[in-house]
Amino acid sequence: MKEKLQQISDEALQSIETANESSLEQIKIKYLGKKGELTAVLRGMGALSPEERPKIGQLANEVREKIESAIAKKVQQTKSKALELKLKAEKIDVTMPGTALPAGHIHPLTSVQRELENIFIGMGFEVVEGPEVELDYYNFQALNIPENHPARDTQDTFYITDKILLRSQTSPVQVRTMEHRKPPIRIISPGRVYRSDALDSTHSPLFHQLEGLVVDKGITMGDLKGTLETFAKKMFGEDTRIRFRPHHFPFTEPSAEVDASCFVCGGKGCRLCKGEGWIEILGAGMVHPFVLSNCGIDPEEYSGFAFGLGIERITMISRGIDDIRLFYENDQRFLDQF
Ligand code: DAH
Repeated sequence: MKEKLQQISDEALQSIETANESSLEQIKIKYLGKKGELTAVLRGMGALSPEERPKIGQLANEVREKIESAIAKKVQQTKSKALELKLKAEKIDVTMPGTALPAGHIHPLTSVQRELENIFIGMGFEVVEGPEVELDYYNFQALNIPENHPARDTQDTFYITDKILLRSQTSPVQVRTMEHRKPPIRIISPGRVYRSDALDSTHSPLFHQLEGLVVDKGITMGDLKGTLETFAKKMFGEDTRIRFRPHHFPFTEPSAEVDASCFVCGGKGCRLCKGEGWIEILGAGMVHPFVLSNCGIDPEEYSGFAFGLGIERITMISRGIDDIRLFYENDQRFLDQF
């Protein structure tokens, strides 16, 4: 039996020596498993004499321990060898460019709003904001649009109560600003406005405007024209000219609609300007004396000009977009183009 144990030990250690990861498992089963060779020897110990039994038992345990530790050692060796090979094979080039994550970008309306803000900030204007949920007083009455005035028809909006509504224009910010500031005032106010218009390619119940207001001593229509001309050149190109057409707004007197010469054809007439050579860009005028006095500013001492433009409109003109609905649909095929 002693010889048998010695033989098992020699054989096992030898095969462990040359084994790989998967054959190690086989070896373990072959010698140490339930039906393994060493187990078989231990089972036969009943036939031994009482003197021999402990000696053989001890020897068998030693053999088991030897085999177990040889296997454990080999497992360790094969593992570290595998790791070494892997590290050699998989070199990492840290100078290689990474995989770029797709990054979003700002919405075309936001980008044009910022462009507009930057142009006016460059001319010394300050950006102020007003509430979208507004009082009838600021949206209409203080702007010289009393109840039942026909101008309310073109600016029908959403009413929360008789006196509270979603603002239909950014012009109420003029009043709010003049109420608590002394001239000189030079502000622009961009933001959302609402009208109960049905959605089509040029109308939306929600859109964006940018309001401008300048009040000081001796402000004239010449200042308005110079300011808007500078703006148009910065926005549409240095060759751009502007023209004023007489118009009516209740809160300015005189009032004008302002066109820019078409930046695509230079004024000859093309598809963008519909053959006109001119594109309407905004409404403007000299602040009505009633509006100044409504805000506690003496129209004998001060004068001012104001203008209001649609940010969607400017974006559509400058980016060649023919349907306002595209701005609000969040279709990535559209947004990705900007
Ligand atoms: N609030 C006007 C509108 O929504 C636009 C406008 C016209 C604003 C003339 C002004 C202005 O400040 O002076 O149609």
